Parts: sequence; C-alpha cells; structure tokens
Amino acid sequence: MAIKKHTKEAVAYHHVPREAWATRIGLVLAMAGNAIGLGNFLRFPVQCATNGGGAFMIPYFVALFLLGLPLMWIEWGIGRFGGKYGHGTTPGMFHYLWHHPLAKYLGAIGIAIPFCLIIYYTYIESWTLAYSVFSFTGKYFGIETHEQMTQFLSAYQGTVKNQYFNGFGTAYLFFLITFALNIWILSRGLTKGIEWLAKWAMPTLFIFGLILVVRVFTLGAPDPAHPENSVLNGLAFIWNPNFNALKDVKVWLAATGQVFFTLSVGFGAIQTYASYLKPKDDVVLSGLATTSANEFAEVILGGSIAIPVAVAFFGLQETQAVAAGGSFNLGFFAMPIIFQKLPLGQFFGTIWFLLLFIAGITSSVAMAQPLMAFLQEEFKIERKTAAVILGALAFFLTQPVIFFLKNGFLDEMDFWIGTFGLVLFAIVEVILFVWVFGADKAWREISQGRDIKIPRFFYYIIKYVTLGYLLILLGVWFFQSGVDVIFMRNVKPENYTYIWFARFLMTGVLVLILIFVRIAWQQKHKIRQIVP
Ligand code: PHE
Repeated sequence: MAIKKHTKEAVAYHHVPREAWATRIGLVLAMAGNAIGLGNFLRFPVQCATNGGGAFMIPYFVALFLLGLPLMWIEWGIGRFGGKYGHGTTPGMFHYLWHHPLAKYLGAIGIAIPFCLIIYYTYIESWTLAYSVFSFTGKYFGIETHEQMTQFLSAYQGTVKNQYFNGFGTAYLFFLITFALNIWILSRGLTKGIEWLAKWAMPTLFIFGLILVVRVFTLGAPDPAHPENSVLNGLAFIWNPNFNALKDVKVWLAATGQVFFTLSVGFGAIQTYASYLKPKDDVVLSGLATTSANEFAEVILGGSIAIPVAVAFFGLQETQAVAAGGSFNLGFFAMPIIFQKLPLGQFFGTIWFLLLFIAGITSSVAMAQPLMAFLQEEFKIERKTAAVILGALAFFLTQPVIFFLKNGFLDEMDFWIGTFGLVLFAIVEVILFVWVFGADKAWREISQGRDIKIPRFFYYIIKYVTLGYLLILLGVWFFQSGVDVIFMRNVKPENYTYIWFARFLMTGVLVLILIFVRIAWQQKHKIRQIVP
C-alpha cells in the first residue's frame, strides 16, 4: 500500500505538466519585458553621462557583442535544456549539465540573486507609480530647483519631514499597491499573468517611449539666450566618442555592468522564462529579438529622452553634475522640473513615470518567477500558495530596504547583486555549460530548432572570449574597487551596522535557498529509492 502510494507520487513527480508560453509573440514580449526595465531608462542615461558620454558607447557595444549576446543565447539554451527535464530553475538545470552533487548548490545562486533583486527593485518601481500620480495631479508643480526636488523625494521616502510629506505613509501605500499587483500577476501564472501583462504592457511602453522621443526631438533649443543648450547637443554628447576615456578601466567596467543589468543576464531570470519553451522551439532568433528590442528601448528610447532633454534645459555641465549625484537623479529630479516647463507637462510627466512603471513591473515579475518555479516544481506547491509564500518572504525582507534607505541599505544590496553577483554567476554558468557540459554539446543545444544560423565565430567567442572577458573583469574589478567595498572604506562609520545587516540579509537568503535545494533533492532521492 505504502509502496503504491509512493509510486504514484513518483510518477507525479516526473510527469508534472509544466506551464508553457501560449504564443511566440507572447514569449518574445515577455522576454523583452523581462530585459527592458528601469535599467534602460534610469540607469543607462546616468551611466552614459557619467562615463564620458560617447566614449561609453564603445565599450558598451564591445560588451554587448562579446558578452551580452553570447550570454543571452547561453541562458536561453540552458533554460530550454532544463525545461526538458522539468526544471525551471538553475539548481535543476545545473544538475543535468554537471552530474555532481555540488552542481545544484551552485544553481541556488540563480534563485537567490533575482530574489534579492526583487526586494529592492519593487520599492523603486513603486516610486515611479507614485510619481506618475504626482505628475497627473501636479503635486510637484511649483518646485523649480534640484535641491527642492531632492527634498521632495527625500520627504516622500520618509528620510526627512517637510511641507511635501510628513512620513513614510504615501510611499508605503504605493509600495503596497505595487507589491500586491506583482503578486497578483504571479499568482495568475505564466500565460494568464506574465504573458498577458507583456502583451498589453510592452506595446504601451513603446508607444509612450515614442511619444516622449518625438516631444524631445521637437524641443530644439528652448532658451534663446543659450542656443548651445539644445537637444542636438545632448544627442551629440551621447554619440561623439571621446577616445581618451577608453584608457579608463572604470568606463569599461561600468559599460559591461550596464550590459549585464539591462539584458537581465547573469541573474537566473532568463533561464526560467526560457524553460517554458518546448524542446524544438527556436532560441537563436528569439534571443536575438529580445536583445534587439532591449537595445532599441535602451539606446534609442532611453538615450533620447533623459539626457537630451536635460541638456536642452540645463546645459551639458549641469546635466553631468546631476547625473553624477546618483542613478535616479536624472529621472526623479531633472525630469519633473522639465515637465513643468512644457505645455501639457502633466500629461508628459504622467506618461514618463508610467513608462518607468511598466518597464519596472514587467521586470520585477521576471525576478520573482525563478523562486515561483522552484517552489512549484521542486516542492509541488500550488501556484497561488507559492505566490503567497514568495510575497510574504519578499514583503518581510523589503522592510529594512524601506526603513534604512538613508543608511545605504539599498545601495549595498545593489552593489552585491546588481554589479558583483551577476558577473560571478555568469562565470559559473559559462564554465558549466561550455567547459563541463562541453562546447560542442552546448553549441548543438543552442542551435537546436533554430530559425536562423549563428555565425560560426560566435562559437569561438562563446568558448574562449566570453569566459576570458568575465574573468578579467572580475579580477580588475576586485583590485580596483572590490577591496574598498569589502572593507567598507567609503562607508560612513555610523552606517557600518546597516551595511552588515544588508550583507547578513543577502547571505541569509542564499543560505535559505541552499537549504531548500538540499531538502528538495533529499525528497527526490527518497522517492527514487522506492521507484528506481
Ligand atoms: N533588465 C532589467 C532592467 O533593465 C533588470 C532585471 C534584472 C530584470 C534581472 C529581470 C531580472 O531593469
């Protein structure tokens, strides 16, 4: 009787019907939604402006070609491969790439990283929703200087109290709404939730983006007294390469980091989405389409809005100074001031922040999906319950991000997750896929069902260049800034405790996932002993 029960369980274990994308267009839109995020519209312009403008684009495109695109194909390949075996997350995928007990534990990183990311990303995403409402109602209208705008945002975030806000309340409310929306979409599942969202959100995002670009391009030079402050000069700043900056390693690191972040590679999120493909579906053309859509949104839309408009209104020097103040400064400080100077400013402000919100939410559901898939597949937890567990965990862990924002909590997490973690994880997956599983098998795996051919030189890029590049990057990074970061050389002493807390939290998440992986595999092992 007992054996019969276990047999049934085992059969169920190996034949779980997995979710699958309903349509190819839905898949590509969802993948584009995954990649296109706040990184494209907030992070990119700032990285570009603070790293030499045009010069930045050279290492950027080099990294896109030698790292970004190859990794995109590698991750689609690994993802579809894992899906064949019923695994939507990297512990299971790595287990089949490398038959070694350690493999699954290495895969735990591919769940911990995106999960840690969601903890602070949704909070930032909620600011964009709030600001779209503030634009609509004209709440910040009347604030004309950067200093006051900074005060407005700080008060909203609850770090100071002033005439604009007197506590966390509003920020918390928008966070709750954003968070609930995310969990609701996740609980509806792959096709009814994520794919449905992407199908209306992505076209809307492109339309909003185009409206804003047309508006920016028709601005010319708004101040007749300063004809040099023009949209054209803003664009020239992005596109004229200054070859001197290429000697600076920092520019190369920044450009490479941006390519990773914007494409969502090195996180574990692309693999999960790709695991819902059927074994014979193409990954080459779809991966290329995702990359191209992301680059269009980043370089064309992201590059044509914030920087040119800021140069037109504030001039080149001030734009660079604003950008140097932090990743959000152009989007949250400069843009709201500019909207007030435009006819229909409330309308343009609303769609700018809604565009950010849409970009954000289609990315945050992608960060959550690995843990969702893991709970559903490895623990047989029903989808809605999985969404609740994930929601409860993420909600709990977001609290320190909200309350210790001013103590550098978010920045510390962003450094380890959004700069370091993804390079490390990319190294792990490239070694496993290309060197352990084998370059020829990996190439065949990627090429299976392909709709277009990848030029053969990409084989060599994937086999040697990508990994070499990643290792050099990690090494240089370590000596350039890693040591300082690890020993907190640039942290204010009063913030030490918070920084340690942030590190403790991230380590805690990783340990938790490692334990989950161990339990899941122990259960499987038990079942396999009964039914070989
Ligand atoms: N690529 C997204 C962005 O540009 C971020 C992201 C990372 C999304 C990891 C999903 C997974 O904002």
